[in-house]
Amino acid sequence: MSVNKQQLGLRRLRLNPAIRELTREIRVTPEQFIQPHFVVDGIHEREPVAGMPGVYRETPHSLLKQIASDLDAGVSKIILFGVPNKKATHNFDFSFTAAQIAAIKECFGEQVWVAVDVCVCSATTHGQCGVINDAGDHVENPATVEELARAAVEFASAGADCVAPSDMMDGRVAAIREGLDRNGYEQTVLMSYSAKFHSGFYGPFRGAADSAPKDKDNIKLHDRASYQIDPARPLDALASSMRDAEEGADILMVKPGMPYLDVLAELSATIPLPWAVYEVSGEYASIEALAEVGLVDGPRAHVEAWVGFARAGATIIISYGARSAQQWLNDYKKWS
Ligand code: PBG
Repeated sequence: MSVNKQQLGLRRLRLNPAIRELTREIRVTPEQFIQPHFVVDGIHEREPVAGMPGVYRETPHSLLKQIASDLDAGVSKIILFGVPNKKATHNFDFSFTAAQIAAIKECFGEQVWVAVDVCVCSATTHGQCGVINDAGDHVENPATVEELARAAVEFASAGADCVAPSDMMDGRVAAIREGLDRNGYEQTVLMSYSAKFHSGFYGPFRGAADSAPKDKDNIKLHDRASYQIDPARPLDALASSMRDAEEGADILMVKPGMPYLDVLAELSATIPLPWAVYEVSGEYASIEALAEVGLVDGPRAHVEAWVGFARAGATIIISYGARSAQQWLNDYKKWS
């Protein structure tokens, strides 16, 4: 394409707010957001999460209050992370999380769309996302998938609108779909964390969800590298997402967001399912930390990251800032 007269005049379309508003190709709206919540068994008062101002480890009671105030701020979609008090190595008890789902549905009914994270890391004694073999050096795939499918069915029966497996075992999407359908939950949506990377950005989450790898005496696994995707393996993210789509996932996800925008752009252009992005705790907290010392305008930086997610092909944005989205997206006018 040769340079024509119009291309020489690109600044005409940047000159004032009106023309910038009219020519924007990407629009982010509050309806696209899902708000994560942590609900913790056995605490009596909610506790702040380090690094993420305004995010708490909620009690069952404070969770409902928080959801009510978020509803007033325009947030009607949530993803729930249940943190049970009782830890185990297998045969996990999912009843605490299921009870919170039921309580939310009883309180808010159809007003709140409830997704629930399906993983066992918050329920284990060791913090790994599965059942570990006797040698303590490997997460057993079939035993873990069985637990996940059982959890998903229990959460669906408690009223979850969506189950979201985040463990990265092989074959869990097929097993969960099969379990849901067999038990009459054909309408429950399955959102797979299909391209979940072995990231260093999950730090604040692991404190909040009580899921950092631990029990070093008995467990020889100290990280999640043997099941999460290597950051330098975009082909693995593609294979994993194609596989999950074939196994029956309704929505796919890239996680984290900002360091993996290339992956999101490529996968969303390749696989014709809705794409979610998870702006994970560490990336959210890094903007908050810069804002805290006055080096960036926090809301402005958050909105810029969100626009990047939408530009790369996400229609669903899971962010700890969801409850501020309405306000911050409105403020966007000030900076643009
Ligand atoms: C657990 C899970 C993790 C996140 C969501 N589900 C962390 C992990 O794999 O350690 C990360 C979310 C965040 O950092 O905000 N399976």
